[in-house]
Amino acid sequence: MGVLPHGGVLINRVCGTEEGSEWLKRAEEYPSVRISKRSLSDVECISTGVFSPLTGFMGEEDYRSVLDRMRLADGTVWSIPVTLPVKEEEASEIREGKPVALKGPDGLIYAVMEAEELYRVDRWREAEAVFQTGDPDHPGVARLYQASPLYAGGPVRLLRHPDHGPFSEHWFEPEQTREIFLSRGWKKVVGFQTRNPVHRAHEYIQKSALETVDGLFLNPLVGETKKEDIPAEVRLESYRTILHHYYPKERVFLGVYPAAMRYAGPREAILHALVRKNYGCTHFIVGRDHAGVGDYYGTYDAQNIFSQFEEDELGITPLFFEHSFYCKCCGGMASYKTCPHPGDDHVILSGTKVRRMLKQGIQPPPEFSRPEVVKVLIRGVKES
Ligand code: ADX
Repeated sequence: MGVLPHGGVLINRVCGTEEGSEWLKRAEEYPSVRISKRSLSDVECISTGVFSPLTGFMGEEDYRSVLDRMRLADGTVWSIPVTLPVKEEEASEIREGKPVALKGPDGLIYAVMEAEELYRVDRWREAEAVFQTGDPDHPGVARLYQASPLYAGGPVRLLRHPDHGPFSEHWFEPEQTREIFLSRGWKKVVGFQTRNPVHRAHEYIQKSALETVDGLFLNPLVGETKKEDIPAEVRLESYRTILHHYYPKERVFLGVYPAAMRYAGPREAILHALVRKNYGCTHFIVGRDHAGVGDYYGTYDAQNIFSQFEEDELGITPLFFEHSFYCKCCGGMASYKTCPHPGDDHVILSGTKVRRMLKQGIQPPPEFSRPEVVKVLIRGVKES
């Protein structure tokens, strides 16, 4: 039976093939809106239960409640608005209470939404609440400012899945991952979020966590990221490689997380934990500056935010890890919690520095990243 999904019920709003084609026919007659790749990934997350208990894009009451108190209007914990911005010209076609066809960037209809409401928001206020800054240099804030301030809310229904391309092999819905964890006999499963290739510090905290649970769910985000981040398909190849060489097959499962990265630090850490609960995890790793970007958040803000909630209202146990690194003096991986040696002995490289090295074909040291992974990355970064 496993861990309960958030809100108690795993949402499923995916139409079967027959029902889907019926709907597709009808949807041709509906007014339509063209949604971004990122909104399409939200539709998929909602429909397949990744975002349970959400059944659609948020209406104004939930939206305000999430901004003000990190809860849906009914009190369920939820930290990031999941909303659908629509352009003014498309909004004029929408009739409240009537269905709308949601077209992807390729012009195909993927879903329908009962457009229950249309509402206008103050994007600066949203930025301050979600990202703790209104600075347009923050990638999440920039994305918000580019989008329309007019939101459409209402339940959605997925009529067909977008093409998952290189990710198909590792694309699993919560219903499936729950089944897989059960069949493997895993009672305690730790989830790991990442938007980067797995380096030695990631490996260290994953394996430290795995020492105390039954299985590790490596769940990299493959939705939209900022352009400086390493492309998801290159990362996926690096995950396969590191798992092959350094992880016991029977203890690890690799499945992708389709959503876009928000870069909302602490608030996104809460979302990430809830999502992993929906996939069937009992535990979730939160390390240094989780979901952070630049200097917008303190190193452990994304851990501290968990103290604002009762454990049973989150329903998943966060596992916190200090900043980890290879220490030459210790002769192994360590963290500020376990290592007494000065900084000169620590091998620490920033993401920006590593990306620059990879672009120039320079290998980061084996204390930082596994050589097999580095090879994949250098090749991938050159080609991308
Ligand atoms: S994130 O934006 O997806 O959080 P990243 O892929 O770098 O970024 O991190 C994945 C997870 O590993 C997060 O929980 C993060 O806090 C943690 N993490 C990354 N680097 C370290 C490190 N050196 N020490 C401890 N935790 C880390």
